[in-house]
Amino acid sequence: MTHPYQDHYFHRAKKEHYLARAVYKLEEIQNKHRLVRRGNRVLDLGAAPGSWIQLTHRIVGPKGLVVGVDLHPITHPFPDHVVTLQQDIFDEALIGLLASQYGPFDVVLSDMAPKTSGVKTADAARSELLFERALDVAAEVLRPGGHFLAKIFQGDAFHTLLARVKKSFRRVKVVKPDASRKQSREIYVLAMEFKGKND
Ligand SMILES: C[S@@+](CC[C@H](N)C(=O)[O-])C[C@H]1O[C@@H](n2cnc3c(N)ncnc32)[C@H](O)[C@@H]1O
Repeated sequence: MTHPYQDHYFHRAKKEHYLARAVYKLEEIQNKHRLVRRGNRVLDLGAAPGSWIQLTHRIVGPKGLVVGVDLHPITHPFPDHVVTLQQDIFDEALIGLLASQYGPFDVVLSDMAPKTSGVKTADAARSELLFERALDVAAEVLRPGGHFLAKIFQGDAFHTLLARVKKSFRRVKVVKPDASRKQSREIYVLAMEFKGKND
């Protein structure tokens, strides 16, 4: 019997040697919006097991950089232009470290998700906190003109958060990739052209 989560994208990921089916969500957005480009510096928040890094490090190439951050270790071997950090996104020292050692970034991605409890409102509230933190990090480490893409489970704070994103970026879209399960409340906020810290 096929496990309900072992859908088309799951099998495709196995066949194409991707670490997670999540890669197809980013691939779809990338194909449509050309978010990441050759030579870019990319920050990937909630990066484990590493399928988004697999895709982005090939796009940016050896002159670019991909920094992946996750609570969990990323054990997959990557080339030298990939750096992985095992850290909590809420760690106070993280922004300073990212900005001083690796920034400014052209693109900040976040596929972070809380451990789900099954209680929809609680899961959405925790996802919104992760989204908000990703936005705070992006605001500190993105270059003006840079882009931000982050997952969120829509809950009560969604519209307030979206309004915040719209203040900081010139072009904002809410996207639901085909590879995102229909029954899931997750969506992605795609924000392009960061106005810069002082706007
Ligand atoms: C859906 S997975 C990411 C999959 C990844 N994009 C890929 O393609 O392999 C979500 C990740 O968010 C991470 N995460 C959740 N809370 C976090 C936090 N506070 N700090 C850092 N990472 C976190 C989880 O550990 C988990 O690995």
